[in-house]
This record gives sequence, C-alpha cells and structure tokens, in this order.
Amino acid sequence: MFNFLKKHFCWSLALSAVTLSVTSCSPLKLETRGEDFYGITLRDTKEKFTIFTDGSDATDVVQAEDGSISWIATSKGGAGGGVSLYARSTKEEINIGNYESVDLELDYSTVEGKWSAEAQTPGFVLRFLPWDSTGIFGGYEDLEYFETDSMNGCLKINLKIPSDFSDKIIQSSDYDSILGFAIKFNDYLRGNENGDQLKVTLKDVTFHPKEGAAEDKAFDDGLNDSQRGTVLEVNYPTRDYTVEESALTDEDKYEKHAWVYLPAGYDADDKDTTYPLFILLHGGGQNENSWGLTNKGRGGKIKGFMDRGMASGNVEKFILIAANGVASKNWGPNGAGGDFDGFNAFEGELRNDIIPYMKAHYNIKEGRDNIAMAGLSMGGIQSFDIGLGKCLDIMSHFGGFSGAHLGDPEEQKVFQAKVEKDFEGLTIHNLYITYGTEDVLAKETFPPLVEAYRDWDLIENFNEYTFIDGTHDFPVWYNGFNDFIQMVFKIKKAEEQPSIKPEPETPKQKCRIVQKKKVVKIN
Ligand SMILES: *[C@@H]1O[C@H](CO)[C@@H](O)[C@H](O)[C@H]1NC(C)=O
Repeated sequence: MFNFLKKHFCWSLALSAVTLSVTSCSPLKLETRGEDFYGITLRDTKEKFTIFTDGSDATDVVQAEDGSISWIATSKGGAGGGVSLYARSTKEEINIGNYESVDLELDYSTVEGKWSAEAQTPGFVLRFLPWDSTGIFGGYEDLEYFETDSMNGCLKINLKIPSDFSDKIIQSSDYDSILGFAIKFNDYLRGNENGDQLKVTLKDVTFHPKEGAAEDKAFDDGLNDSQRGTVLEVNYPTRDYTVEESALTDEDKYEKHAWVYLPAGYDADDKDTTYPLFILLHGGGQNENSWGLTNKGRGGKIKGFMDRGMASGNVEKFILIAANGVASKNWGPNGAGGDFDGFNAFEGELRNDIIPYMKAHYNIKEGRDNIAMAGLSMGGIQSFDIGLGKCLDIMSHFGGFSGAHLGDPEEQKVFQAKVEKDFEGLTIHNLYITYGTEDVLAKETFPPLVEAYRDWDLIENFNEYTFIDGTHDFPVWYNGFNDFIQMVFKIKKAEEQPSIKPEPETPKQKCRIVQKKKVVKIN
C-alpha cells in the first residue's frame, strides 16, 4: 500500500508539471487495472521489462520498483539513442507475424537547458530488432515514427503492424523472429542539435496478437552450434599510410582493431585445411563495427548469412575480416570514418599489414584466386579503386554495395584500359554491384557503370542487383552482401560464359520494399 501511495504521489506531482494537452495517461491506472507493476504484455502474460543493455544507447537507465524504465537519450546527428528491450525475459524471440499492433505508454520530458530553441516537440521511432540484430543501431527495422505535441507529457499510442511487416523482416533476416524492440529518440527529423537530451520513462507495452495467431516460437534456423562460425576480435600492427615512410614517428605506428569470422569447423591446428580470405569494408562516417559483426549475442546479420550459406553448401567456406578502411591514425577506435586521405591510402595497409597478418595467424589459402574485397559505399569505392585498380595481382573477387569509383562512362573506359594494361593476362573471377533506385548518391551514376562492367571481358562472372526503392542504407548493403557471398570464390571458366549479353534481370520480388520516411545518410 505504501508503495502505491508513493507511486500515486509521484504521479500527481509529475502530472501537475505537464501541459494540459496531456489527457491520455491516467495517474490511477495501476490501481484501476488491479496491476501492481509496469511492463510488457504478450497475449495473456505480463512481465517486467528486460533491458537489452548491449543493444541500448542511453544514460541514466533506471528500472524502478514499479517496473517502469527511465533513461536519457542524447541527440547525435540523427543517431539519437534510446533503450532496447527484449520481448521476453527469457530473451527468446517472438514471431512478429503473429501480432497486429503495439500499445506504448511513456512519459517524456526535454532536459532543462538541453533542448535547442529550433527543435520541435520530441519525436520517437519504434524500432524492431530481428533475431540477428545487435541492438538499436544494428540490423533493425523501423515500424513507425511518431511525434508528441508538447515538450513534456505522457504519450499513449497504438501503432499498427502492417500486414507486410513480417515479410519485410523475413526479407532482411530470413525469419520473422523478433528479439525485441527499441524506442529511439528521433532527433533527425525534429530539428534537434547534437547534445539535446530527452528523458523517457517507459511504462507499459502491449503486443496485440492477431485473431487466432499461432504460438510464438523461439528463433531456430535449424543449425546446431557446430554448424556456426565464430567471431573474434583482433588487433594487427599497422601504420599511418598518409605519412611518408621516412617521416614516421611512434605516433604513426599502432595496432588496429578488426573483427574476424572463422567458418564452422575451422581448426587452427589443421594446417592442411585452408580457406580463402574475404576483406569487408565499411562506408564513410563509419568504422569496422558498422557491419554489426560481433562476438556478442548471435553475432549480427552477416554472420547469420555466412553460417546458413556455408551450412547449406551454397556459399564457399571462407575467413572474413571486417576491417577499418581508414589507413591513418584517424582510424579510431570507434572512428567516424571521415579521413578521406586515410581511405585513399588503404593499399599499403592491405598489402603490407592486413593480408600478411591474416596469413600468419590463420589457415589461409595462397594465391589471388583466394582473396576477395568488398564494401559498402566508400568501402565499395575502395574495393574498385584500390582492390581492382591496384591489387589485381593479389585478388580477383570484388563487390560494391552502393559504392563504385566512377560514374562517367569515358573515365570508366580509361580505368578499365589501365587495369588491362597494368595486369596483363589476369582476369577478374567475380564482380558484383548493387544499388538502390532511390539512392541519391548512386541512381544516376550506377546504371552506366553496371553496363560497363557487364560488358567487360575481363570479368568471368558478373552479377548485379537493382534494389527497387532502396536508399543509401543497410537493407541494400545486407542484401548485397548476401548476394555476393553466393558467388565469391567460385571460379567460373571463361568458356562457360554466355557469349551474348544477358537480358537485364527483372528485380527480384523479394526486394520490393517500400521504405517510408527513410533517412538518406551519406556514407
Ligand atoms: C549438427 O548438425 C549436423 C547436420 O545436421 C550434423 O551432421 C552434426 O552431427 C550435428 N552436430 C551436433 C554436435 O549435434
């Protein structure tokens, strides 16, 4: 009883401070419903919230005795944070296809002195985290953006889950299993400045099932642990390649962090079983963590693609390094990928440091047939400019996801002629390109480039994918990664190539994703 009174008191106090527009949240709700805690309701079961700590980005996170969770989210150039929560305390998944809407109830207030004058009233986005998501910024799908109508108050909202939402999750993660959700501060579309802060207290969340919905099943992709690869963190010695070798100081020499994926069955002691090496790069404004490959949780979306692809036999087993493509001391840790001289200087690090380090520490196959390089946006530019343009002697498979070096057909001809001259007699085993039709950075320049590559004799096996309605964002890049691993390291003999130009593929149905209110980021 005392607890209830205390709660009631706080509620009244809180309410007296908010504006009159707040009429939807009753201070007596706990009592009138006969419930004594806040939390998440799935069908007939209510539980207290379980925080997905690693997947959250907030400060002052407190779970109160009444079950509510409060936090402070800070604006960061569109990457305003929030707390991620599991759907169940067991951390097992639910099937989003079983649900038709979600009720949210939360209190919010702008933090005094931390709200820029130009900013509008606070906005949020409800973000779902599929089974392979690594949190609020890794492998999510946004359900809906919503706004408040006052600077502080209480928000109660019902958000419908569209009938095609589970298809969207399946397109991105192969299964409709949802680990949980995140309530993100939408600082991007509301005029907030970096450092603006929002306090949120989440009270109740209810998932409403569809009529006659099946039981939820925890995620199961049919693989056992021995069929899954492992992810490691490595630190390899390298240096600042924007600095002349003769001018290097101690500050210009350092170890650099990267993620390494080892395929299922990898045995360090079995030196006779060797694997090809795949170098995966991020975009501008990003770093080696941006692909979401991690040794935590389920390891991220691309790990799922690799595990399942290799287990099915459709994907050749390989070792992958998700490296940081900024070859200067501005690389990080957790760098913002803004040093373009560093991006351009990557050849030295690739040849002298990354590849030798990987060969020295892992069982890697010899030869140019066994090295691939691919990346998103800036990392795609590096894969073509540096990988294909300068390193064809040591590698032969290339992928570019919304990133390629040139859009001008005349310059492309010059580039191709130079490659043919510099690397006489060498061929490209596999080359893959993808871009989204709504990508302002690629939609004009990519179509002629795709044609130039399609027509280039040097490429033994070419594939491209035009992502309808795709923007400069991860849905396009994940799809591209998953496409590219199906072909990489498979060597198709030149004589097996069709002699006539194939008809442009009609876009695969699976990628007809309508992305509403999608934010275009420059990567
Ligand atoms: C894992 O699954 C594979 C394929 O079904 C099977 O061959 C293997 O024996 C299983 N391993 C374990 C440890 O259960």
